[in-house]
Amino acid sequence: MSAHLTELLNAFNSTLPLAKARTIPSAWYFDPEIYALESTKVFGNTWQYVARAELVEDPGSFMTVEVAGQPILVVRDEKGTLRAFHNACRHRAAQVINEPCGHATKLRCRYHGWTYDLAGKLRGMPEFDGVEEFKKEEQGLPRMRVETWGPFVFVHQGQPKQMLAEFLAPLPQMTEGLGIAELHFFDRREYVLECNWKVFVDNYQDGGYHVNTVHPTLAGALDYSKYRTELHETNTMQISPMKTSDDPTVAKVRAGSHAYYWWIFPNLMINLYQGVMDTNWVIPLGPDKCRVYFDFYFADVKTPEARRFNEQSIAVAHQVQLEDWGVCEEVQRGLKSRSYDTGRFSVKREAGGYFFHQLLARMLRE
Ligand code: FES
Ligand SMILES: [Fe+2]
Repeated sequence: MSAHLTELLNAFNSTLPLAKARTIPSAWYFDPEIYALESTKVFGNTWQYVARAELVEDPGSFMTVEVAGQPILVVRDEKGTLRAFHNACRHRAAQVINEPCGHATKLRCRYHGWTYDLAGKLRGMPEFDGVEEFKKEEQGLPRMRVETWGPFVFVHQGQPKQMLAEFLAPLPQMTEGLGIAELHFFDRREYVLECNWKVFVDNYQDGGYHVNTVHPTLAGALDYSKYRTELHETNTMQISPMKTSDDPTVAKVRAGSHAYYWWIFPNLMINLYQGVMDTNWVIPLGPDKCRVYFDFYFADVKTPEARRFNEQSIAVAHQVQLEDWGVCEEVQRGLKSRSYDTGRFSVKREAGGYFFHQLLARMLRE
């Protein structure tokens, strides 16, 4: 570890009580060495959400994704076993599969045509006779651990210390009665933001602190005075009772007794209202850039009436996202101001934000 990196990591004190705490230093949001360290220690060493389970339900179905610079391939083999691999061919590292999702009977690299079976074993290499000290059986696609919870697929690139269920606890237990299993995927929206991925998470983790100022229409649907945050081992839940919004569009699509906002370390967020769920999955694209996928799920995705409702609900979420987008990019620019290094937390609101910084620092220093 370079002296520069050690100094940066030591600049954050994670032992202080919230009332005395400061945020991680601003350089953590744009320093390339911190970014590289996050790629291995955080994204390469935690359970990572990668896909909706329905995409890899049938034998032969696959999906690919790149998370923090690592190409990943998830496949359901012929026997029904879900598998995950590093999506880098053993020959010259081309992506063995370069489509986002689909079906296949074998995995054929398009570069020179090496083929792997759905279990990742190398089966064929054209014109490779005579190559010495080459053991075909050792040239399979490198595996990673894969598990599912409900509609979500997670992979772990390293040696997980916990099974997925333990890592997610108490989220599966606490959302049991909330009907996630009865919701169906409806649509995806994608946003590329000119900010570090942590700015997006910080914005999510501020305990509703920015709701009244940045989201006036959403604010009307939440009983802000009772909005609270619960901290768990590797996730948080923000919960707010709902009230009837003055805005009829918002009132219609944000119903139910409570809004639940779950954050799962480091980069997945699950927002739950009655009959409505959306996930916000933020993927780093560089120190200054991230991509956020919003996946929307609803109780009914078939009838025309329900589909109209769903579109309205997505429009409300899109409006909220535009508002968040603006502040996130502004924050990224401000973090580079020579005047700014760290900030303080609202004890009443921002426990989740400090908790995120503490978890992150722990992983980076491990
Ligand atoms: S890189 Fe895959 S076959 Fe050459
Ligand atoms: Fe927001």
